[in-house]
Amino acid sequence: MATNNILFVTSEAYPLIKTGGLADVAGGLPTALKEQHQDVRIIMPAYREAMRKAEKLGFASFNMEGLPETARLLEGRLPNTTVKIYLVDSPAHFDRPGGPYSDPDNHDWADNAERFAIFARTAIAVATNKAGLDWQPDIVHCNDWQSGLVPALLAQYPKRPATIFTIHNLAYQGHFDSSHFKNLNLPPYLRGIDGLEFHGGLSFIKGGLIFADMINTVSPTYAAEIRTHHFGHGLDGLLNHRADRLVGILNGVDYKAWNPANDPLLKHHFDAHNLEGKENNKRQLQKKFSLPQQSESPLLGLVGRLVEQKGIDLVLSIVPQLVQNNVQLVVLGSGHKRFQAELLQASKDYPGHIAVHVGFDESMAHQIEAGADMFLMPSRFEPCGLNQIYSLRYGTVPIVRNTGGLADTVIDAREENIEQKTATGFKFEQASHEELWRATERALSIYRDKPKVWRQIITTGMKQDFSWEQSAKHYLDLYHLALAKIRH
Ligand code: ADP
Ligand code: GLC
Repeated sequence: MATNNILFVTSEAYPLIKTGGLADVAGGLPTALKEQHQDVRIIMPAYREAMRKAEKLGFASFNMEGLPETARLLEGRLPNTTVKIYLVDSPAHFDRPGGPYSDPDNHDWADNAERFAIFARTAIAVATNKAGLDWQPDIVHCNDWQSGLVPALLAQYPKRPATIFTIHNLAYQGHFDSSHFKNLNLPPYLRGIDGLEFHGGLSFIKGGLIFADMINTVSPTYAAEIRTHHFGHGLDGLLNHRADRLVGILNGVDYKAWNPANDPLLKHHFDAHNLEGKENNKRQLQKKFSLPQQSESPLLGLVGRLVEQKGIDLVLSIVPQLVQNNVQLVVLGSGHKRFQAELLQASKDYPGHIAVHVGFDESMAHQIEAGADMFLMPSRFEPCGLNQIYSLRYGTVPIVRNTGGLADTVIDAREENIEQKTATGFKFEQASHEELWRATERALSIYRDKPKVWRQIITTGMKQDFSWEQSAKHYLDLYHLALAKIRH
């Protein structure tokens, strides 16, 4: 494909700021697109934390059309890449302690609608070449609700770039009080049920779903699931209406950041041919979490946001069985207070079996991936999921629910898949205590009784290749389709 100018609009990007998988995608996909000879530039809010981590920022633009004088655009590079990044510096909105969407106590910022509206308006100034950058994108690639106003507002420009909207998670919609139609000065065509109105309020995500030239989500299975009532979060009707524009593209992973053979966050390295380093990582992880350093005790890991989506309640429900079966479990996560408290309580009730760290810790996430024998991901829904893919590469056998990207990336250790040496993990269907425990039991019995089969499952997983190159090529096809839509 010819070189395109692509503006990648995201609310987080690793390593500048991260709350979940979107940051990993924004840290990896633009680089892969550059390798496909695309001129891709990221635009993201200038959060305090991101400003601290960004290197060599310069001023790119002041006095942008349609924006308050206090808003500026800073320019730098995404660390360790050649990808240009623009940071939307509106100090009143972004220069504060806390996360990108919530305050240090985990409450959503009260002015999120204003924050992501100013972000969108700045992206539009860049997209329409009115930001003084002398650069015009052909494609504006938006991600999740925080960028939903971009396709919606761009639609009014007769000569505009093509727009893509990627759904990373349909559960987060950016739903605000209807007074914001006025407060944000949104044009009349965005009002009403054919616009951004949703259940009497204002929905940012609808901006992407209605107005983008092409829509995708991050796995083929989730793309089909969100068109059903069960997974549609009230938007399945709209998604069915736009089904001819909706595709699924599986995320890639960045094997430069996630490779056990040279991961700088690990003390002991390993690969599919030599797993000794993995055993050392296990011992170290047990020590760090004050678990008995027994190599024969199966060690389960879980890293993730502690929210309903991730099936944390299911994990809590199998704790007694894990303990009875002399299994160890290490959990790293943060999220709902209730899940945090229940997990911490389980670690107090069963010291030596259950260990929990509440918080966000990149190094620890890598160490758990490297040291655990199995990885739990019993998600109720999972648009793609990256941790199970990292687990595969780290020889940590994933136990997952058969949904979304988990369904598309893990091959169940059924009899025939074991025989054909294609199995990479364990899957179960229903989000129930019984089914999660049955899948875990299946894994434990192979781990304990059939070491050769276990080793085969590990090495098959480690050899899977989910690098970004393939996904980037699919995105190029998607851009092509979007460009075709605006050209006739
Ligand atoms: P989601 O985007 O739904 O949170 P993914 O599996 O796509 O789920 O990506 C989650 C990313 O965030 C992974 O890179 C994972 O390691 C990371 N992560 C989640 N919680 C934590 C945590 N508490 N500490 C460190 N990394 C975390
Ligand atoms: C979302 C999803 C997750 C996906 C990630 C990156 O946060 O919950 O499944 O992997 O975005 O696309």
